[in-house]
Amino acid sequence: MEFLDKLVSPQSLEHLKLLHYLSGMVLILFVPFLGMLIGGLWLSLYYKSKSVKTSNTAYLKFAGEIIEHTTITKSAGVAFGIVPVITLLMTYAQILHTVENTIFVYFFLGLFFIIPGTVLAYVFRYSFSFSTLYSELKENISQSKNTDALKRYDTLAEKTLRLKQRSGRWALIFLLVGTFFFSAGVTLLTTPQAWGASTGLIAVFSNVYIWMRWLMIVILSFVISGGYLLFIYFFWEGGVKFIDSSYQDIVKKNLPKVTLLSGLVLPLFILVNASRFPAQAYSNSLFFFFFVSIIVLFISYHFLYDMLRNNHTKRAMWVFFLALSTSSSIVIAEEAALSGYSHKHALILGLNYDKSYAELQKAVGTAGGVDVAGIFNTKCLACHSFDKKVVGPPYKETLPKYEGKTAQLAEFIKNPVKKNPDYPIMPNQGLKPQEAAAIAKFILEEYKKR
Ligand code: HEC
Repeated sequence: MEFLDKLVSPQSLEHLKLLHYLSGMVLILFVPFLGMLIGGLWLSLYYKSKSVKTSNTAYLKFAGEIIEHTTITKSAGVAFGIVPVITLLMTYAQILHTVENTIFVYFFLGLFFIIPGTVLAYVFRYSFSFSTLYSELKENISQSKNTDALKRYDTLAEKTLRLKQRSGRWALIFLLVGTFFFSAGVTLLTTPQAWGASTGLIAVFSNVYIWMRWLMIVILSFVISGGYLLFIYFFWEGGVKFIDSSYQDIVKKNLPKVTLLSGLVLPLFILVNASRFPAQAYSNSLFFFFFVSIIVLFISYHFLYDMLRNNHTKRAMWVFFLALSTSSSIVIAEEAALSGYSHKHALILGLNYDKSYAELQKAVGTAGGVDVAGIFNTKCLACHSFDKKVVGPPYKETLPKYEGKTAQLAEFIKNPVKKNPDYPIMPNQGLKPQEAAAIAKFILEEYKKR
């Protein structure tokens, strides 16, 4: 992708390290949010279809509430869904600059699908609340004598229903596809053998580890959204006050079960993912944080079991907190692996940076026409010699104090100030900054040779 090379300039090593911290921090927020969207959509669609099958409207209510809670608010979608995606895209463009371009394509594709997926999730949420409202008002409205309004009501209701049915499914599909490509990007980046090797679509779809990482994220989504819903239903502001006890039963039985089940299979995928890294990749932090994520999960089983068995609903706060910690530890572990691997890459980029910086300097040099020898001969030689006093003092006397202070010397040459009472002030030679810098460097090197 040549356009990228033109867009992004090489970064220094320190800057690349900073970019890794930045992308890590963004991911710590973004992964749980993505998880809430995926888990929320999936659960909502599941209970929606369950309400059709069992013709129990309580499930439909549950489905509507799930998507409403897990999408929080529209501005949360922008803040946690769309802004991080764009930030990540820009940081990865810098981190992956020039070396392995096809890997960047997968990050790009992933985020490219996640944005419309996020938007559609909100369309689903709002069309869901609208269609619920329509059916609730149906009876009151059908008594109205205004047939024209009734007709419009019916078409609008039907359209909203169709929108609801489609948007939910498509939102989920887009998010799952986006997550797959994102997993492909991370997996390929942490597989050094893949660098420069085949990273085409076929190779990606037949790569088991990409699927494993994808499944890990999907299952993590259920842990997070389950944990969050438990938190909202049973802890936040004292928990929801249920009017209908059969509805309360549905919530109380289903949510801890989903969270516990997904929590139980998650360690398997974490281990598979961790085992993939060759021995030299086991930096301490990688290992430590994978370990932490599993330990945290084990603690949350305990709370979930307590909720299910002994009805201790206040445990919901802990379950959600632990689910978030699991997600953060996984992100940190993966980021550690990523920066470990891209370290080699970073070295190359750092080198590129030095090279391009040198090129830049050369370009400025010729463009500004810095002809060091020419300036020195015509502008300085008239008043200075290296070892004899002319009009000004000999360089051998004055330059030692500028050792390692090239910038300071350049500043003096560009803009002379009174120094020594035995001499008149040096007249300003009207040099440009880069000319002064080049002359300063030159005489500092030269005086020692003479
Ligand atoms: C017209 C005469 C004149 C020319 C031309 C001139 N200088 Fe000087 N330079 C002086 C004098 C006089 C001083 C002593 C100033 C003082 O001590 O305040 C001086 C001082 C210096 C010093 C010592 C500064 C210090 O901190 O003690 C340096 C270095 C120097 N000049 C570099 C240069 C360079 C490089 C050029 C060419 C771009 C140059 N000068 C051109 C007259 C000149």
